[in-house]
Amino acid sequence: MKIIASVPAKAILFGEHFVVYGKRALATALNLRLSVEVSGRAGEGYHLIVEDIPLFGLDMELTSEYAQPFINYDEAARAIAYIRSAVQYMEREYGIDGGVELRVSSEIPLSAGLGSSAATTVATIAALKRYFGLWNGDLDELRRDAHKIEKAVQGNASPTDTAISTYGGYVLIEGGGVKRLRDLPEIELVTGTICTIPVGAGHESELRLKTRELVERVKTRKEAFSSVFEHIASAADELTGEAVVALRRHDLTRLGSLMNINHGLLDSIGVVPRRLSELVKLAQESGALGAKVTGAGALPDGTGTVIALPAAGHSDELRIAMGLTGAIVRDLRTNAMGLVVEEE
Ligand code: MEV
Repeated sequence: MKIIASVPAKAILFGEHFVVYGKRALATALNLRLSVEVSGRAGEGYHLIVEDIPLFGLDMELTSEYAQPFINYDEAARAIAYIRSAVQYMEREYGIDGGVELRVSSEIPLSAGLGSSAATTVATIAALKRYFGLWNGDLDELRRDAHKIEKAVQGNASPTDTAISTYGGYVLIEGGGVKRLRDLPEIELVTGTICTIPVGAGHESELRLKTRELVERVKTRKEAFSSVFEHIASAADELTGEAVVALRRHDLTRLGSLMNINHGLLDSIGVVPRRLSELVKLAQESGALGAKVTGAGALPDGTGTVIALPAAGHSDELRIAMGLTGAIVRDLRTNAMGLVVEEE
């Protein structure tokens, strides 16, 4: 028996970081997918194969130190923290006992703000639950399980990313709770991922999981400037509320302006390094109604993603301009489908 669970990438449209402190956030699923395949194996334990994730891959026994890395073992081992934690969680909470092979393949770039961690976690536990006869179709339970794992690995984590990986579509995080918004339209977004990791000998150790570090940096800034931070966070919360209304009315001009303002707030909390800042400015001046960093942002010289909302008829111009910076540019759609679990 082979189980395949696939989930979408996510983009936070409004409210990232501030959502960790109880403010509202709006996120959507993008039409890039990650899948985890679980099948039986002759031996005990868990054999993991990670293939096709942009920038890295590895082949290892989760219970031993031995791995055959496609690029770099040390960093690859960190990147599979979510899979290892998901497996340990399933052993502890659901009593699964191994004897399986897990094969991960993905179109979602790793550690780039597009939800690869949550996607990996949700797809891994969905596939394991179904393989071990524990799948009852309860998406809410699955999302809560995945969120516990993400918190354990990442420290402070909001439910945003795991909710989108699970449900797809659009979700609004409000007062710490998750609301699925089913009345919002699909829109086009151009994404630009800046990747400063030169793929090749000698540079691989620059690849690292960064969400935890960025969330901690923001906490330090919040503690140093608590009342200023509170004002910025409240403004972000209001932007999210206004964005839902603009999107519902399909008022893309207003939505774009709200994105530009949200970007300024993210810059003010220190998660926008130079190259992402330049990419946002370029997009704003090259046919985008609005542009902003999405997700955790980036460490200086790290990987991160910008989302830009193209004005009607200007997508080509926007894509070409963003591509000239060396960013990996994609033309994507929002409101993509959530978790799909299939048996072969
Ligand atoms: C990461 O994709 C989004 C953050 O807001 C963290 C979180 O919500 O857990 C930075």
